[in-house]
Amino acid sequence: MEPSTGLTFLPDPITQFRQWLELAEQHEINDPNAMSLATVTAGGSPRVRIVLLKGIGPDGFQFFTNLESDKATEIAVNPNVALAFHWKSLQRQVRITGTVSKLPSADDDGYFATRYRISQVGAWASAQSRPLKNMSELSSRLEEMNKKFEGMDVPRPPHWGGFNIKPQTIEFWAERPYRLHERMLYTLDQNGWQQQRLYP
Ligand SMILES: Cc1cc2nc3c(=O)[nH]c(=O)nc-3n(C[C@H](O)[C@H](O)[C@H](O)COP(=O)(O)O)c2cc1C
Repeated sequence: MEPSTGLTFLPDPITQFRQWLELAEQHEINDPNAMSLATVTAGGSPRVRIVLLKGIGPDGFQFFTNLESDKATEIAVNPNVALAFHWKSLQRQVRITGTVSKLPSADDDGYFATRYRISQVGAWASAQSRPLKNMSELSSRLEEMNKKFEGMDVPRPPHWGGFNIKPQTIEFWAERPYRLHERMLYTLDQNGWQQQRLYP
């Protein structure tokens, strides 16, 4: 096999992440912004689910959800979380660890206003993560909320909003032949982001 010096990685992992995400946006069939979000329960058990990355700010990575969902309850107890992106079309992965904080409610309002009306009404109708008897119960709650907000803009429910994940580590992984994959780990310390290659 040809010897290789590998990919070039920028000093700033956020800029590097944006470049990989842009590439994924051109190649993934759907949801290039889908990320696994791992939280820890009060009992110390990990839980993971997919959410959509809805913004990358100077402070980190943002997503929106129901503030009374299991994930939000878990975050309230333990703000340490992990993210993983897998772009199959690129054969690349990004893993992030960090701490979560609530976004300002102005950001919640701003993003909520961009959602389709039916999703806005759905945010009122869904008690995310709570037991649902059957799908007709959801339909009647949707109908009820549709009536409630008829003829007006749907306001953001108080139980719906966003979180920011401030990254502590960001690891880029790129597939290479014969499992000689390329890994670059960035760790944030008092001097800024440090870069370290890892064995695959
Ligand atoms: C592709 C995809 C995108 C999703 N995006 C979100 C999202 O942005 N926010 C959200 O609350 N749930 C999203 N979900 C649903 C979550 O995976 C999960 O089922 C839900 O948030 C409840 O999780 P919890 O009970 O752990 O709180 C998404 C699921 C998939 C498969």
